[in-house]
Amino acid sequence: MFLQNTFVYNLFFDLNTQKMSTTTSILRQKTSLQESVVDILNKQMAVEAHSSALYLSISAWCYAQGLRGTGEFFRKQADEEREHMMKIFHYITHAGALAASPEVTNVERNFTDLRSVLVMALDQEIMITENFNKMTEHCQKARDYQTAKFLQWYLDEQFEEEQQARRCIEIFDQMNPKDALYDIDREIHDLKKGE
Ligand code: FEO
Repeated sequence: MFLQNTFVYNLFFDLNTQKMSTTTSILRQKTSLQESVVDILNKQMAVEAHSSALYLSISAWCYAQGLRGTGEFFRKQADEEREHMMKIFHYITHAGALAASPEVTNVERNFTDLRSVLVMALDQEIMITENFNKMTEHCQKARDYQTAKFLQWYLDEQFEEEQQARRCIEIFDQMNPKDALYDIDREIHDLKKGE
């Protein structure tokens, strides 16, 4: 890497031409991240912030229904989503780029019944997994293998979170909700025991 005026010249070996190539970027002087990668990371921060707000809203609804165990489950889930957001925030800022503090709007507040809430949570997790798959693909195409490696943590986390969200629905469906809402609530609570 050579410094010249205000530009940084990044040298790399072009496999097609079999020659050394140069690219210039003022942004790359300040951060190891490409603009498009910063952009998708910031967008995902907004998704995580929205997830946190959604789960907190679900938690409040559950408590209001007397479903304290499930309310606690989603309160913890809301905390975890904020942690996911902050992990991206730290990655962006430590890489020298600018993280955007996301605005959270349009948070659902009207829920009808526990099962539809659990299905909504599973759909949310599936959507987030898809995001991370696409982000990882983007980083690999952009040859940003460091960020692709960073995103692997989220793929592992999503695998667990999807499993947990599916288990909530299984518990609901395997117990007769008319007779066992108390037990369902306790079982869902226990999925996050020790966290
Ligand atoms: Fe942070 Fe469950 O997505």
